[in-house]
Amino acid sequence: MCAGQGRDLLEVLVEHPRRVDVTAHLVELDERNVDRARTGVDGAGLTGVEVVKADASSTSAYEPLVPADLLLVCGVFGNITDVDIRTTVGALSSLCAPRATVIWTRYPRDPDLLPSVDGWFRDAGFELVSLETGSDGSQFGVGVHRLTALAQPYRPGVRLFTFLEDPDPTGTRRSN
Ligand SMILES: C[S@@+](CC[C@H](N)C(=O)[O-])C[C@H]1O[C@@H](n2cnc3c(N)ncnc32)[C@H](O)[C@@H]1O
Repeated sequence: MCAGQGRDLLEVLVEHPRRVDVTAHLVELDERNVDRARTGVDGAGLTGVEVVKADASSTSAYEPLVPADLLLVCGVFGNITDVDIRTTVGALSSLCAPRATVIWTRYPRDPDLLPSVDGWFRDAGFELVSLETGSDGSQFGVGVHRLTALAQPYRPGVRLFTFLEDPDPTGTRRSN
């Protein structure tokens, strides 16, 4: 979701012995990032990975691969409102296979936010696997949640969030 140049996934897959077994879609809107990601995919011979130029904020973008075993929601929550984080988390199970894993990131600019996001995942039927924040709790936030409840049925066309290009106009805080 909002895959950028696909570095989260491609840099792991390229060295992985089972890389050709992985079927994945990278959903990204920016043409330059799409091109870079496609170059990376082609260069690594990842025949099961497709870079999809689409709007990741609509559940329709995920239709070909639902239900997914693994969702990466990295570099997203820092660019959307807290209300939209909750909405997105609440809808994620509709994209998930049973016991699917979601990996997400959020720069912890507000100390209470990461526990809140964890709580929204729990409300949506996920259990916490791990939540890492760096040594002083403020450098980064990476969460992993696993679906334990029944997945909601998939519905295309559900709006998840509005991506804000500059959620911090002062430029003094990192957004993700
Ligand atoms: C902060 S970057 C995160 C990239 C990558 N996931 C990472 O963590 O390094 C956010 C990405 O979301 C993309 N993006 C923004 N709005 C989008 C949308 N509606 N649909 C798909 N991609 C979007 C941007 O072009 C950008 O590449």
